[in-house]
Amino acid sequence: MLKLAYSSLMAAAAVSYVSAQSFVSDPLVDKTVPYTAIPYQVDIHTDGRGPQSGYNICNSTTENQDSMCQTGFINHLDDFCLFAPPEANSTIGDTEGIEVAWCTKKGHGARLIPEGTLQGVQLVQSPGYIQIVGYIDQTKLNIANGDYGGELDSGGQDGRGNPIGGLLYSNAFPSNNGDNSTYQQGKRWTYFMGGNMFCAKICDDTQPNAEALCQHIYDRIGCAYNAPSNAQNGTFVACKGDDMSPVGQYVSNGVTTTWTQPAETVSITGVPYTPTPAASSSCVTYTSASLYTDLASVGISGSPAGASATAASASGSGSSNSHAAATKSSADSSSTASSNSAGTAMGISFVSAFAGVILSAYMFA
Ligand SMILES: *[C@@H]1O[C@H](CO)[C@@H](O)[C@H](O)[C@H]1NC(C)=O
Ligand SMILES: *[C@@H]1O[C@H](CO)[C@@H](O)[C@H](O)[C@H]1NC(C)=O
Ligand SMILES: *[C@@H]1O[C@H](CO)[C@@H](O)[C@H](O)[C@H]1NC(C)=O
Ligand SMILES: *[C@@H]1O[C@H](CO)[C@@H](O)[C@H](O)[C@H]1NC(C)=O
Repeated sequence: MLKLAYSSLMAAAAVSYVSAQSFVSDPLVDKTVPYTAIPYQVDIHTDGRGPQSGYNICNSTTENQDSMCQTGFINHLDDFCLFAPPEANSTIGDTEGIEVAWCTKKGHGARLIPEGTLQGVQLVQSPGYIQIVGYIDQTKLNIANGDYGGELDSGGQDGRGNPIGGLLYSNAFPSNNGDNSTYQQGKRWTYFMGGNMFCAKICDDTQPNAEALCQHIYDRIGCAYNAPSNAQNGTFVACKGDDMSPVGQYVSNGVTTTWTQPAETVSITGVPYTPTPAASSSCVTYTSASLYTDLASVGISGSPAGASATAASASGSGSSNSHAAATKSSADSSSTASSNSAGTAMGISFVSAFAGVILSAYMFA
């Protein structure tokens, strides 16, 4: 039985949607950054959550297990990056602003995902986006055992993104015409990391619905709602698919309705619909050994993920969020369950922590 839970990231995230006082005038989501013109750091702010912790120019010099590269890719089933903490045994909530890129392939100037991390991955390429959902051993990516994590995206509580200054590209959008050597920026993207799962989505800005398909305001309801999928543990598969219904949108009595996540201080007493994966087709299954030939061997420089503290220490402290500590208690929540059509059950649970109410979505498979 799989228990999958995602806690909300932090009270601060909700605060920012209510009071925009700390919202920057140059949000990350509005920054057009061609792959050929990436600056050292795309975020130039020093106040608020502090300066960007890593950098966006990533090359052979920065390709090591201490890399602070914050430029990622979602290309193909064998070629994608996740954002995860720079130092071992961290919670996503504590480190959301300073996550770094961990990639399946060499050549991106980032850390390599360690062997044994990826346990099952499904990629779905739809007209509007590329979505990857997978099962992971999150401790190999420096995520504390038992952390149910949260959302990373190009929005963020202050518009600077999580990680701050994180950039994402793909060479697999239709604009590339199959040319792997050119990259298109995706300004709208989301990752949920935690509960030994991840889901990642990069939307194609040239398509009409990118904002809705990569909506980032549903940070309290996890992968089940933000990236409904048929991912299975132990299976590695790439599919084509239809676009999902935008998060929050559902049809009730023939009427399309939109549910909006309430402010962080308000309990979610249930989401009024059960998400179902969009139709997928042309699925091709691979062995993990055939896909992931570049992964890092475990144990480089002594820690499980091969990370050392040196490169990371400089910038982390200024970016951490005092409210995020509350997410540490999310595993203690109680749950209720309801069924969905895929035969899995899903419940929503709640905990009160000192910084506010935290919700976790549990999925049992
Ligand atoms: C996925 O499968 C691996 C290997 O069998 C197992 O260790 C892990 O616990 C599974 N993950 C989840 C989330 O069930
Ligand atoms: C490689 O990346 C680092 C870190 O961003 C940067 O300082 C350096 O100038 C880059 N090197 C080249 C040759 O671009
Ligand atoms: C991870 O951090 C927690 C909390 O600080 C601590 O209790 C635990 O022992 C640490 N685990 C490892 C493997 O270092
Ligand atoms: C692009 O690269 C991916 C792997 O990174 C590969 O599977 C795919 O076949 C490549 N496509 C082309 C057209 O070269």
